[in-house]
Amino acid sequence: MNPIDLLRPEVRSLKPYTIEHAEAPVKLDANESPYDPPAEIAQEIREALGRIHLNRYPDPAATRLKEQLAERTGVAPDQVLLGNGSDELIGYLITTFTGQGKGVCFPIPTFSMYGIIAAALGQRTIPVSLTENFELDPERLLDVARREKPQILFLASPNNPTGSAFAKEQVVRILDAYDGITVLDEAYIDFSQEAGFLKELPRHPGLVVLRTLSKIGMAALRVGFLVGRTDVIAQLEKVRLPYNVNACSQVAAQVMLEHEPVLREQIATIVSERRRLAVALSRTAGLQLFPSEANFLLFRTDRPRAVFERLLGDGILVRNLDQPGLLTGCLRVTVGKPEENDAFLTSLENFFEGGG
Ligand SMILES: Cc1ncc(COP(=O)(O)O)c(C=O)c1O
Repeated sequence: MNPIDLLRPEVRSLKPYTIEHAEAPVKLDANESPYDPPAEIAQEIREALGRIHLNRYPDPAATRLKEQLAERTGVAPDQVLLGNGSDELIGYLITTFTGQGKGVCFPIPTFSMYGIIAAALGQRTIPVSLTENFELDPERLLDVARREKPQILFLASPNNPTGSAFAKEQVVRILDAYDGITVLDEAYIDFSQEAGFLKELPRHPGLVVLRTLSKIGMAALRVGFLVGRTDVIAQLEKVRLPYNVNACSQVAAQVMLEHEPVLREQIATIVSERRRLAVALSRTAGLQLFPSEANFLLFRTDRPRAVFERLLGDGILVRNLDQPGLLTGCLRVTVGKPEENDAFLTSLENFFEGGG
C-alpha cells in the first residue's frame, strides 16, 4: 500500500507554503518587528518561564492573557478567541463557517494563508482581483459574492503584501451588503492611522476582527486573537484545540503586555522609520512606491531579481514578490532598525546610481 495513493485530492494539488529563504545579517523579509525585548523585560520573561511546571498542561483558556488582550483591545474577554498565531484562527473560521461546496472569498493579492488553508480544508477558493492601485473594488467583489455565494470573506486591512489600508466607506459598503462572515484581518493595525473595525462589531453581526502579536515583537510566541460577538466566539470555541496556546507563549506574552509603553515606543519608531524610508524610496528614480500603513513597504522596479540579488549581496534580505499580474516587478521590504534601514537605502542607492 502506498499512503500517497490515499491522499485527499485537495491536499494532492496543494503546494507546501515555502518562502524564498536565505540567511542574511539584515533580515527585512518577514514583516517581523526588528526589536527584541529590552534586557530588563527579557530577564522578567526568563524568570516567569522558570516558574512554569513543564509537567502540567497550560491553562486551557489562557485566562490571564485573554484578559490582557481584551483590555488592550477594549472588548470583553468572552469576545476573544486565542490562537496559535492568527493562522490557526483562519483555519478555525473556515472550519466553523463553511460547509461542503461553500466558498472562501478574498481579494488578491493578499495574505496567502487564506487560500492555502481554505484549499486544505476542501473549500472552493474565490479570489477577486484588487484594482491596479491595490484598492478594493466593492462592487466587483459584491457581484462575485452574489454569484458565488461564499460563506466567508477575508479582508486584510492594512493588506499584505500591498501595505495600504482599504477605504473605510468601501469596507462598510461590503459589510452592509454582503450576507456572510466578513473577517477583517488587522494584523498590521498597530502601524496604521486607521482605527480598525472593532467599533463596527455591534452594527454588523457577520463581522469578526483578527489580530496578532506577531508584528509587534512577539512573532516567536505565535499568539493571534480574534474578536467577535460572544455567540460567534462560543461556536468557534467548539473547534478550538485544547491548550492551543502553550504555557511558554502565554507567560512570555503576559509579561510583554505588562510593558505597553515599551511596545508603543517600538511601534512609534517603526512608523517614523517607515515614513523616512517612504520619502527616500519615493525620491529614487526607477522605483514605484506604494502607500503603506503597515510595518513594510511595497515597491516596483523593472529589474526586481537584480535588485533583490544586489541587496542580498550586501547582506540585506527582502521579499521578492515578482510574479505575473498585479505584483509584477514588486519587492517588499520590512521596516527594520534605523541602521538596518540605512544599509538598505545605501545598497539601493548604489544599485540605481551605479546603473545596476
Ligand atoms: C495579513 C496577515 N494576517 C495574518 C498573518 C499571520 O499572523 P500570525 O503570525 O499571527 O499567524 C500575517 C503574517 O504575515 C499577515 O500578513
